[in-house]
Amino acid sequence: MSRLDSMIRRLQAQRAMLDLARDELTNVPGVVFELGLGNGRTYDHLRETMADREIFVFERKIAAHPTCIPDDDHLYFGELLETLGSAVEAHAGNVALVHADIGGPEADHCARMTEMLNTQIGPALSPGAIVLSDLGITIPGCEPLPLADGIQAGRYYAVRRAS
Ligand SMILES: C[S@@+](CC[C@H](N)C(=O)[O-])C[C@H]1O[C@@H](n2cnc3c(N)ncnc32)[C@H](O)[C@@H]1O
Repeated sequence: MSRLDSMIRRLQAQRAMLDLARDELTNVPGVVFELGLGNGRTYDHLRETMADREIFVFERKIAAHPTCIPDDDHLYFGELLETLGSAVEAHAGNVALVHADIGGPEADHCARMTEMLNTQIGPALSPGAIVLSDLGITIPGCEPLPLADGIQAGRYYAVRRAS
């Protein structure tokens, strides 16, 4: 598969999973954590499709499209390993959706980010909350959520906390 095809499938998987989460969370109140602003594409999709929710964004290097940068009250700027802990405390039990798109080419980085999600994100989640990630995650108290139709296993990961 060419890198172009791979990128297209990745973006399709992201959109399909974000839309699936929106539908699954209709009766689950709470805010959204967007981990990894990047270009701001998925942030923009979230704020358009989940307009009734507050979205908090985590990023260490702002390089997004200028129209896709959250205000200071909704941006945790800095290294996730330093910002996530206080955000989890501040929003404990009130996060309905975590979208973590923070992987990369370096195996060490992916391992650190996976470990961080597995060990730190749990207390933030409201009952019935969903965590989506480009990294394989195993979060205590959460079960795998079936992927959206047509999305291949391993392309994206989704778990749901018991309600
Ligand atoms: C693939 S991009 C996200 C793309 C985004 N979903 C979009 O649609 O444009 C990953 C982003 O995560 C950020 N990131 C990765 N690891 C991080 C960390 N440990 N702390 C803070 N930000 C991190 C990177 O700086 C990068 O901007």
